[in-house]
Amino acid sequence: MSETREFLTAFLRRPTTMGAVAPSSERLATVLASVVPTAGSPVVVELGPGTGAVSAVIAERLPPGARHLAVELDADLVAYLRRTRPELEVVHGDARELGKVLVEQGVDRVDAVICGLPWALFDDATQAEILAEISRAIGTTGAFTTFAYLHGMALGAARRFRSTLRGVFEEVLVSATVWRNVPPAFVYVCRRPRA
Ligand SMILES: C[S@@+](CC[C@H](N)C(=O)[O-])C[C@H]1O[C@@H](n2cnc3c(N)ncnc32)[C@H](O)[C@@H]1O
Repeated sequence: MSETREFLTAFLRRPTTMGAVAPSSERLATVLASVVPTAGSPVVVELGPGTGAVSAVIAERLPPGARHLAVELDADLVAYLRRTRPELEVVHGDARELGKVLVEQGVDRVDAVICGLPWALFDDATQAEILAEISRAIGTTGAFTTFAYLHGMALGAARRFRSTLRGVFEEVLVSATVWRNVPPAFVYVCRRPRA
């Protein structure tokens, strides 16, 4: 099955955890992956990899010896990723339990968290819970990127999420709009969780 068809099938199966009908474009994935270190032996964690559109771009940047973990909730997508992207360390798990996942995988340092989670589908408490896990994972030296759809900014929930990010991280940068994505989107680049 093609990647787009696999994604759409997953959306029809679980619309409330997918939050999108198509995978991210290569252009959006490139902006999301811009914080991935290209030297040394970095550890990168992807949350909600879906069919792996962003994973592919991350993998292209990573130097030999890096670790690339991908934490996905949907069992069918986990099976798809294991079949199509054997280089990826795919974990069938929940972003809400990121700390536990990292301990189980023997990871004690994370350089970047690249996140494709459907924030708009999460309530405030779940957003806060996952952001706390991400903050603990990246510490003071790592970076975290995630995306939002442009049309969502007309809604209060998306504006609230932006202000939540600014409450959690000292630095929150907003990328230019990526028009070559369906629908158009932009990326948040976050660093230095507040104490
Ligand atoms: C909008 S899709 C993004 C897929 C991919 N990153 C992309 O950009 O094409 C959201 C993904 O997050 C996954 N997901 C949703 N809630 C999750 C959670 N709590 N933990 C891990 N993955 C989750 C969904 O199963 C889905 O694969």
